[in-house]
Amino acid sequence: MSKITAAITAVGGYVPPDILSNADLEKMVETSDEWITTRTGIKERHILKGENKGVTEMAVPAVEELLRKRGITADELDVIICATVTGDMIFPSSACVIADKIGAKNAWGFDLQAACSGFLFGLETGAKFIESGKHKKVLLIGGDKMSAIIDYTDRNTCIIFGDGAGCVLLEPDNEGFGVQDALLHIDGSGRHYLHQKAGGSQKPPTHQTVDAKEHFVFQDGKTVFKFAVTNMAQVSYEIMERNNLTADSVTWLVPHQANLRIIDATAERMGLSRDKIMINIEKYGNTTNGTLPLLLWEWEKKLKKGDNLIFSAFGGGFTWGSVYIKWAYNG
Ligand code: UT7
Repeated sequence: MSKITAAITAVGGYVPPDILSNADLEKMVETSDEWITTRTGIKERHILKGENKGVTEMAVPAVEELLRKRGITADELDVIICATVTGDMIFPSSACVIADKIGAKNAWGFDLQAACSGFLFGLETGAKFIESGKHKKVLLIGGDKMSAIIDYTDRNTCIIFGDGAGCVLLEPDNEGFGVQDALLHIDGSGRHYLHQKAGGSQKPPTHQTVDAKEHFVFQDGKTVFKFAVTNMAQVSYEIMERNNLTADSVTWLVPHQANLRIIDATAERMGLSRDKIMINIEKYGNTTNGTLPLLLWEWEKKLKKGDNLIFSAFGGGFTWGSVYIKWAYNG
């Protein structure tokens, strides 16, 4: 019997309609469109507005699109994994909330937290459920409402992040398409450079933590940048090497959208030209767990069966890695 691989068989995505442009930010903090564009590549981001709306508000329409495209009902899902750092609540998991909202009655699932690498870690996790033979349909969602944890008076962070969610369906494949390899890492000594100080068990919320703005993202951008450039480039190069891929045989680099300069450094190390890189950072900024599925959502029509895709990400933790996927269908 041929080995079961886990193929992506459908993609969905959603970004909220409201846009926060560089021109808007110029009115909010001491910055300029020129600085943001040259340092990050970002022009605008989408922001989820309105009371009582969390990340599942974006995940649900993304999943509904995916189900419609694949022609299946929510009841057919076996597992729901939601990669996020901004779940609707600390608990229960957003996977539970999504299952309820879409009417998935036969699935189990959980949230996966690996900061910006969550979707990658989810791909590897979901693939193992499929490869085991026990599960036939694994839904992987990646999304964040970063605007919920951003201080819009801090120019170091507010220019970078945006809101959005995407998802993929993983199903068994007998022809060898789908997830081929994964190279994933964590290094907790990096936690000091990118984190949210309060709200967890170490420092529960108090009036003082709110006053000190400790429920917002803290980032030492320079340090994170240094580690991101080195590690994302290295891991992407390594996964190419160990799968005997060359710059010619890689069809697409699917990189986390944190900073255009990090993406370019990664592509350079891999020897890839710009036309082989998926980039939409100018429109969405860094949507954390949303970046990779939103790229697939946008590029799906261009993808062909057999294309070699290298996914790469780096984020808080530190977490980072690369996944190699052989695309399973014509877009
Ligand atoms: O997705 C999770 C992983 N995160 C990342 O990968 C992000 C990694 N880091 C970065 O992308 C970059 O470090 C940033 C975009 C956050 C910052 O860019 P940078 O080139 O590293 O700038 P910097 O922090 O070194 O700051 C350079 C200068 C400073 O001024 P001085 O000290 O040289 O006078 C900052 O105060 O730019 C200043 N600055 C700004 N100026 C205008 C910082 N933020 C801004 C701003 N507008 N928004």
